[in-house]
This record gives sequence, C-alpha cells and structure tokens, in this order.
Amino acid sequence: MSKHTWREVAAFFAGFLRNPGRNGSIVPSSPRLTEAMIAGLPWDRIGTLVELGPGVGTFTDAIMARVRPDARVILVEVDPGYAAHLAARHGARATVERASAADLDAILARHRIDTPDCIVSGLPLASLPVAVSGRIADHIRRYVGRGTIYRSFTYRPGRTLRFFGDGVLTYRSRIIWANFPPAVVLGAN
Ligand SMILES: C[S@@+](CC[C@H](N)C(=O)[O-])C[C@H]1O[C@@H](n2cnc3c(N)ncnc32)[C@H](O)[C@@H]1O
Repeated sequence: MSKHTWREVAAFFAGFLRNPGRNGSIVPSSPRLTEAMIAGLPWDRIGTLVELGPGVGTFTDAIMARVRPDARVILVEVDPGYAAHLAARHGARATVERASAADLDAILARHRIDTPDCIVSGLPLASLPVAVSGRIADHIRRYVGRGTIYRSFTYRPGRTLRFFGDGVLTYRSRIIWANFPPAVVLGAN
C-alpha cells in the first residue's frame, strides 16, 4: 500500500494550513485506511472509476495498481497543486479534472459517462461548507441509486450520514484505528 515521500506529506500539510476545512486532515490517509477503502472492490467489473478528492494520490496509487487496463479513471481534485501532482504521476493513465466534485454531473457528462461503476471519495464532507457537501451528496445518492459502488471515509460518521439520509450508505467498516484520526469507511453497493 502507498507510502508517501516526505515531500508529499509536507505538501499535504501545507494544503491543510492553506485551507483546513477543505483539506480535512493534516496528514494523508494511512495504508490501513487505504486497504479498507478498496477492500472487496470487484475490479473485473469496474470499467469506469471516479475518485473524488485524491489529494496527493494516497488511494490513487492503490487503485491504479488494481484497476483493469482498459478502465477509465477520472480524478476530481479542486486543489491546483494536488491536481498538478496527480497529472504528473498518473496523467498517462488517468484523467485529472481540476474541478469541484460539486460539479460532478457536468464533469461526467463531459466524459460521456452516464453512471460510473465506482466512486471512491476522500472528500471531507463533514468539514466542507454544508451547501457544498449537500450538493455532492445529492449527486452521489443519485449514482448509488443507479448501482454505482461508493466508498468514502469519515472521522465523523454521524455528521457525514446526515447528508445522505437514511438507508443510502449501507456499507460500514469497523473503525480503522491505525489512521490519524481514526476513521470508518462508509459506502453503498
Ligand atoms: C481528507 S483529504 C483526502 C486526500 C486523500 N484522498 C487521502 O485520503 O489522504 C481531502 C481532499 O479533498 C479535496 N477536496 C476538497 N473539496 C473538494 C471538492 N469540492 N472537489 C474536489 N476535491 C475536493 C482536497 O483538496 C483534498 O485533496
């Protein structure tokens, strides 16, 4: 599982200092959380995968190592520095969209993707502006209703679940203590 260079960790910490609510955490997710995020994903059935909020590419490395060679991977990251880093590292194989996940429908429409097979999200819904998180959750709820597999993590499950309403996020992992802060994976399908 992905281990970051000190430069990547420093860049992520600087991202937190620039915008704490948007960055959501002070260090990238741990290898244990990465493992929990991708546990059990049916790689042979995933032809389109969208990652929201990849940051310095913590989950991206693990995803790119497993995804089918013909799968389309779209990375949606709002921070220009992270987006440039992701493009340099994964640009040959994945498409980096420097954009907000609040515009997910429009982004996928541009790529002529109606319903992605899988959405992996590192977005800190619990610490983004409520209107932004609500809009992102609306998009995700709709895709999940059409069968998209969804995986995300949160440090504050109660606050995150509120954006989706009852019965949408039916997948929940045990608490991943080997992460700072401890987190749970929430998802659907
Ligand atoms: C908690 S970090 C997760 C980074 C990485 N996935 C990890 O787990 O270490 C949150 C990431 O979401 C990005 N982000 C925040 N709001 C966003 C938005 N509206 N659209 C796209 N990315 C966003 C931040 O720039 C940051 O890279």
